[in-house]
Amino acid sequence: MGDLDFTGKTVLVVGGSSGIGNGIAHAFKARGASVHVWGTRATVADYAGEEGSGLSGLGYAQVDVSDFDAVAAVRPAFTSLDVLVLAQGTVIYRRGEFEMAGFQKVMDVNLGSIMACATKFHPMLKAAKGSLITISSTAAYHATIGNPAYNASKAGAVGLTRTLAVSWAGDGIRVNGIAPGLVDTKLTRVTTQNPERLAASLQGIPAKRLGTPEDMAGVALFLASPLSAYVYGQTIPVDGGLILS
Ligand SMILES: NC(=O)c1ccc[n+]([C@@H]2O[C@H](COP(=O)([O-])OP(=O)(O)OC[C@H]3O[C@@H](n4cnc5c(N)ncnc54)[C@H](OP(=O)(O)O)[C@@H]3O)[C@@H](O)[C@H]2O)c1
Repeated sequence: MGDLDFTGKTVLVVGGSSGIGNGIAHAFKARGASVHVWGTRATVADYAGEEGSGLSGLGYAQVDVSDFDAVAAVRPAFTSLDVLVLAQGTVIYRRGEFEMAGFQKVMDVNLGSIMACATKFHPMLKAAKGSLITISSTAAYHATIGNPAYNASKAGAVGLTRTLAVSWAGDGIRVNGIAPGLVDTKLTRVTTQNPERLAASLQGIPAKRLGTPEDMAGVALFLASPLSAYVYGQTIPVDGGLILS
């Protein structure tokens, strides 16, 4: 596997309990890494029966990353960290993001938490000359009617990815991001389980299919590997061509 062999490396995927993050976590595990994930539920058993590849073989901790003091206080189960993937995220429908409480919640989970987790692990990433990978969204690049906080948080994540990359380049840390298009996860059920909305969405995707967590994982592996050694501060759309059409 060469450049994509992560044997001996430690990876933390925040939001790795489900969806895209879970796919990324298993991709690193399959390539030899010791992989830890964070999620919102108390124990691994609380995820039994969920879709996805599960938490088998992954370290698990419950951390609400919108509680920035809690993030700072975490005592991780590892002492070194090579790759930090920030795949946490949420959205509120039915105009909940037009209420300030809802707006703030989504901003905290999707954007503030990136800063909280990145600064928490900056010392370990610096020691390892590691990689930080953010998961934003193609929503960063167009309006999302009904979801002002989701849009602002994702546009913010793209900017933060740039600035952390420049700020920490001298520490030997590479920071990059992935902007997924439409991936079938519990976050997108409102679209994928509505046949009319699904058909309309597929119409706008040149690849003519939804993305998968594995599609995102391929790019995460690349961004964590020496193959991308000269890529700094970029957020790569992984969207089947969605934002081009
Ligand atoms: N699916 C898409 O089409 C799509 C498109 C563009 C961008 N994205 C982005 O991709 C990322 C992953 O989303 P997904 O689609 O894979 O959805 P998902 O399956 O719902 O995964 C979201 C993850 O974030 C965790 N999380 C949510 N709130 C949290 C909190 N307060 N503290 C700690 N963890 C929290 C969830 O934990 P639990 O498992 O405990 O719920 C879960 O692991 C998000 O940033 C999302 O915005 C997704």
